[in-house]
Amino acid sequence: MQRVLAIYFSQTGQLGCALDSMIGGLDPEQFEVHVESIQPKTAYPFPWSLGEFVGVFPESVLGIAPEIETPSFDPDGDWDLVILAYTVWYLAPSLPIQGFLQSESARVLRDRPVVSLVACRNMWHTASEKMKRELDRLEAQLSDNVVVTDEGPTWATFVSTPRWMFTGKRDRFLRVFPPAGVSESTIEGLSRFGEALSARSDELTKRPVGPLLTGLGAVEIEERFVVPELIALVSFPFWAKLAVLSGPPGSILRAFTLTLFAVYLIFAILILIPVSIILRLLLYPFVAGPLRAYIERLRSPSGTAAPEPDHH
Ligand SMILES: Cc1cc2nc3c(=O)[nH]c(=O)nc-3n(C[C@H](O)[C@H](O)[C@H](O)COP(=O)(O)O)c2cc1C
Repeated sequence: MQRVLAIYFSQTGQLGCALDSMIGGLDPEQFEVHVESIQPKTAYPFPWSLGEFVGVFPESVLGIAPEIETPSFDPDGDWDLVILAYTVWYLAPSLPIQGFLQSESARVLRDRPVVSLVACRNMWHTASEKMKRELDRLEAQLSDNVVVTDEGPTWATFVSTPRWMFTGKRDRFLRVFPPAGVSESTIEGLSRFGEALSARSDELTKRPVGPLLTGLGAVEIEERFVVPELIALVSFPFWAKLAVLSGPPGSILRAFTLTLFAVYLIFAILILIPVSIILRLLLYPFVAGPLRAYIERLRSPSGTAAPEPDHH
């Protein structure tokens, strides 16, 4: 029997379902799985109010992580694989997961093969790079990264995701907007990664552990989001530091700065994304090389190649 530790934090249960589906593909004869839901000491609200939603922005971006309740697993136990499932908050791993990474319990990751699993709206690149750096710091052996996102068109998720976050309602809306979140079929499809891990479980003992989930479409790079995320990578820390400097959480000045940030964010999504697409086309000859290298990094370790079509 090999022992798998699956760690996650999910507010609506979406990431929990994604994790269950992946674990469901693991052969129960081969693997014993312990699932751990990370609990921040102070719970985050769901549904969110606008103020609370924007209020977690500075801490998310600057890595000011909350304290978490001590998890129930033994961090010094004998784990053969850790599945680390996280969502994205403001282009960073969600605060409870950052809390876990900064806690004593994170030593469980040291020298362990780690498969990361992300379920988010559509912007995961910067968070994934941050996570890779954190896993390096913790001396984990990142074997694979699996990402699923909302399939709805961006204009639709621009409405359906905030509606979900601020009202808790996820269903089809006004007949135009598809249900928010990752589709059921995509979530069900995650079991293929559990099955692949079962088939390749011998390789979990290798050091360094190589990618085990290649050729299964583990990630899909939406190239149109690469430049907007890079723009945010520069502007978000500026706004986050400004908010922290304005005053402690709850102060009027900080609320004012965060309101300005919220206006900037809507402007950025509506204007900067189209502008960055045009800029990228204009500057293509100059930026193509570095962008390609960055995209290759985002694809690693598992790659984007999808399964061969079944000809039977
Ligand atoms: C405060 C906050 C910020 C978010 N920022 C992003 C983001 O930058 N990129 C993204 O793709 N999704 C973002 N999301 C959506 C989440 O990644 C995720 O899809 C959603 O919260 C549902 O996750 P759950 O499994 O915890 O319910 C954000 C959600 C919250 C609550």
